[in-house]
Amino acid sequence: HIGFLLILLTARLCSLSLCFPREYHVVEYEKNWTDAQTYCRHHYKDLATIASQEDVTMLSHALGNCQRHAWIGLYNDINSWRWSLENTSYYNEGETEFRRWKSGEPNDYSRIEDCVKFRQGKWWDDPCSKKLHFILQYCRYSLLLIGV
Ligand SMILES: *[C@@H]1O[C@H](CO)[C@@H](O)[C@H](O)[C@H]1NC(C)=O
Ligand SMILES: *[C@@H]1O[C@H](CO)[C@@H](O)[C@H](O)[C@H]1NC(C)=O
Repeated sequence: HIGFLLILLTARLCSLSLCFPREYHVVEYEKNWTDAQTYCRHHYKDLATIASQEDVTMLSHALGNCQRHAWIGLYNDINSWRWSLENTSYYNEGETEFRRWKSGEPNDYSRIEDCVKFRQGKWWDDPCSKKLHFILQYCRYSLLLIGV
């Protein structure tokens, strides 16, 4: 009878999803920024958000120590840089403001550089139409309880 009761109680829970800290994956397809964003949102969580020096270190490892570069989730929305993953419940206070620009960047070269790539631990603006590898983020652990 107790087993039966537990199943009934479980059935009362609505779905609850918990997402633990960001984990990154480098995607080897070359896509422009918008296509990369669509791909990430469809298959995982989103294009990578970088919110701390720990994130920078993790990403540097993911890309290896060569000259590789890849899109991240930052873009210029009319003179303010924003993350593709906007929902603030995924950030701690102040984390959306974290930046790690290469010195001299963003330079908006030719006035068409509205998307951001990661290279050698630093960020550079680049034209969104450029096709690059990209970095997506997902949840390292996620717990999903679904009513029976
Ligand atoms: C933000 O994410 C949380 C957790 O997934 C969700 O409950 C909430 O509805 C989202 N808010 C918006 C504005 O999308
Ligand atoms: C990216 O490519 C798609 C076609 O695959 C195109 O529709 C879109 O406008 C391009 N985005 C940019 C920013 O160039």
